[in-house]
Amino acid sequence: MTLRPVISFAKLAPPKKGAAIVLAAEDNGLSGAAKACDPRNVLPRAFEVAEFKGKFGAAVDVLAPEQSPLDRIIAVGVGKTSAITEHCWWRLGGAIAAQLKKGKDATVVAELPDVAIGPQEAAAIAAGIQLRAYSFDTYKTKKDDNGAAPDKAARITVLCANPAAAKKAFAETEGVVDGVWLARDLVNQPANVLGPVEFAARASELKELGVTVEVLTEKEMRKLGMNALLGVAQGSVRPPRLVVMQWNGGKAKDKPVAFIGKGVVFDTGGISIKQAAGMEDMKGDMGGAAAVTGLMHVLAARKAKANVVGIIGLVENMPDGNAQRPGDIVTSMSGQTIEVINTDAEGRLVLGDALWYCNDRFQPKFMVDLATLTGAIMVALGNQYAGLFCNNDELAERLAAAGQATQERLWRMPMGAEYDKMIDTKNADMKNTGGRFGGSITAAQFLQRFVKDTPWAHLDIAGTAISSPATEINQSWASGFGVRLLDRLVRDHYEG
Ligand code: BES
Ligand code: MN
Ligand code: ZN
Repeated sequence: MTLRPVISFAKLAPPKKGAAIVLAAEDNGLSGAAKACDPRNVLPRAFEVAEFKGKFGAAVDVLAPEQSPLDRIIAVGVGKTSAITEHCWWRLGGAIAAQLKKGKDATVVAELPDVAIGPQEAAAIAAGIQLRAYSFDTYKTKKDDNGAAPDKAARITVLCANPAAAKKAFAETEGVVDGVWLARDLVNQPANVLGPVEFAARASELKELGVTVEVLTEKEMRKLGMNALLGVAQGSVRPPRLVVMQWNGGKAKDKPVAFIGKGVVFDTGGISIKQAAGMEDMKGDMGGAAAVTGLMHVLAARKAKANVVGIIGLVENMPDGNAQRPGDIVTSMSGQTIEVINTDAEGRLVLGDALWYCNDRFQPKFMVDLATLTGAIMVALGNQYAGLFCNNDELAERLAAAGQATQERLWRMPMGAEYDKMIDTKNADMKNTGGRFGGSITAAQFLQRFVKDTPWAHLDIAGTAISSPATEINQSWASGFGVRLLDRLVRDHYEG
């Protein structure tokens, strides 16, 4: 991974060296502190020549004139100040980071003419800078190669009205960045490096932050009757794991909230094998498990006042002499039997047992599962929204609101008895595919059969966790989708 830029905060005063970044608003230009960085007044002409109007994310990079102690002055647009939302400060950080040279120090003058940039906003800018800086270059061996990591972390100083408070706010926000970086890194890692055992070991590192981590082995899962999960794993020489993480920062008697992640470290499709083109992307079929792990990191890092359970089902879906076959019937932990029509519909088999186990053991306030579950969700929603399936309106609304706030957006999809019927089969209690139509919905109906009456939501993140278009705050193939969203959900409704 890239070296993370090191952030510090200081009082507003004209920077004395290196690159200075100033903010320009579309409606009324530069602040006093920004103008003080430009005593020779070179920016107005530069703006004119570059036709720079302060549009959000647009930038002008000027070499500082002779006599200036600075190297460069870079103006970054923030758009119309009336249109700035909370998430814009994160995006702005990303837009600023886009202008910085890798590994080079810089100073950001965080002041605008008529909008106060408080501690939270300054911290959000800093977090945006760090999120943008992530790149997966662990396996690039040539330092001079395009994209290879510089060997020194850049130091970024953010100048703002209240640096002490900003520093305090950022101590929490940086935990969020850590969680997103962790999730991205888990997803980006190739499957030869990150199998179920290795993933479980990474999750176990959360113990250092005070998270309780249990790792269930194949033998223990067999005893629990998790034959749906185990059926998927049986085609791989690498054994499965179920990881149970607990963060108990709330009141002792408070029921926990629970997050469950699909962790298929590689999905070949099994005997119902996938086509070759694009199959390499299936190293990311553990994006749900990565988000849950990243979330647990965030909650522990900021000592969230909530009781939270994170459960991830880790398996590899491979074709093999011992792999499960289409037509096989397995008995899940719930006792319900499943006819495996297509071995490539494996995520729901893993989650069915994980959801049942979670509900049975913890009786949580609610369960939210995250899974790169279906290609069909991309047909429906593209890469912009994750699919939200939910049996509880309040939970659905809270999730959707957290999605708006963090711009990890969710779109609610329908569920119902007519869809549920589509996974009935004469050979068992249910089958694991419902045919071509409504593929994401029948997958959700399958999961719902394992949650009883517990409030539950399923997020189909196949289009948003991997391979989604780059944004100001994410340039990586793996976005880390879900970490900021769920941290926000917990923060807004389930703490204190
Ligand atoms: N992991 C895939 C879904 C997926 C596809 C995620 C592309 C990310 C990108 C899942 O296990 C799968 O194979 N789903 C099948 C289900 C079908 C066999 C009913 C699908 O979507 O085709
Ligand atoms: Mn599959
Ligand atoms: Zn899969």
